[in-house]
Amino acid sequence: MPTLNVNGKQVNVDVEPEMPLLWVLRDELGLTGTKYGCGIALCGACTVHLDGQPVRSCVIPVSAAAGKKVTTIEGLSKDGSHPVQRAWVQLQVPQCGYCQSGMIMAAAALLKEKKKPTDADIAAAVTNICRCGTYPRVRDAIHLAARSA
Ligand code: FES
Ligand code: FES
Repeated sequence: MPTLNVNGKQVNVDVEPEMPLLWVLRDELGLTGTKYGCGIALCGACTVHLDGQPVRSCVIPVSAAAGKKVTTIEGLSKDGSHPVQRAWVQLQVPQCGYCQSGMIMAAAALLKEKKKPTDADIAAAVTNICRCGTYPRVRDAIHLAARSA
């Protein structure tokens, strides 16, 4: 029974240790902001932070998250006021929205590492796939968040 720290709260989950973290977050804890896309670490829809690093939770066994801090989109800020979230709203980034929580988590992790990322930094760090093609607005919103952080 792994004990996890999710969005600042300790939680016990009664699951097999090899269950993917994404399954635990969505199905056991009801944190459905994190999405399932490909299941094979390609699309980034399932991106969360593990001790501040962006990870693809569809391929992380829950046992690997025990003792680490998991942050999901629900825990990024209390009220949607994280600079990345504010920039997303200001530039109306999403289309269908499905990929967007993963995009925001990837962007937030990048800005923690690099206060003023270049276009190349963004392309290297935010490799999430968006079927709607929001990439130009994602890039603009990351620059806006960097300016306003
Ligand atoms: S669902 Fe995890 S990377 Fe696509
Ligand atoms: S906004 Fe639709 S998949 Fe990204």
